Amino acid sequence: MARILVLHGPNLNLLGTRERSIYGNVTLETIDRELVAAAGTDSEIRTFQSNHEGLLIDEIHSARSWADGLLMNPGAFTHYSYAIRDAVAGVALPTVEVHLSNVHSREAFRHRSVIAPVCVGQISGFGWRSYLLGLQGLLSFISENRAE
Ligand code: DQA
Repeated sequence: MARILVLHGPNLNLLGTRERSIYGNVTLETIDRELVAAAGTDSEIRTFQSNHEGLLIDEIHSARSWADGLLMNPGAFTHYSYAIRDAVAGVALPTVEVHLSNVHSREAFRHRSVIAPVCVGQISGFGWRSYLLGLQGLLSFISENRAE
């Protein structure tokens, strides 16, 4: 049983209506439901969205006491939040960063993630399925590291 905290950063509560040509039609509720379904009975998924950096950091800190890993779309915080990066590094939980859009094919400011260097890996560009791919990668990483 792996316990995963799924974090969604700013503006992701608007999915389904926000810039649909970039982010698609799927809502955050649907993504969360799909993640719970994909995890099945083998894993526990808890989800949290906030538009506030400090609340995301608080949630990362509390995950230290119960979670085995973090799946996170930090939204625009990806590109400049050293505070979220330090929180991820500080709790030392395996973390996968995901993005719906391909951040590397967009504006230059989106090409850099300050958080990815403290993550196991990054998935970008597969729409809402980036989350499913990220979950798969994270669960494999956790189980392989347990087996060692
Ligand atoms: C995003 C990409 C970010 O650059 C942007 O600020 C977002 C969404 C994505 O999922 O593609 O809010 O993280």
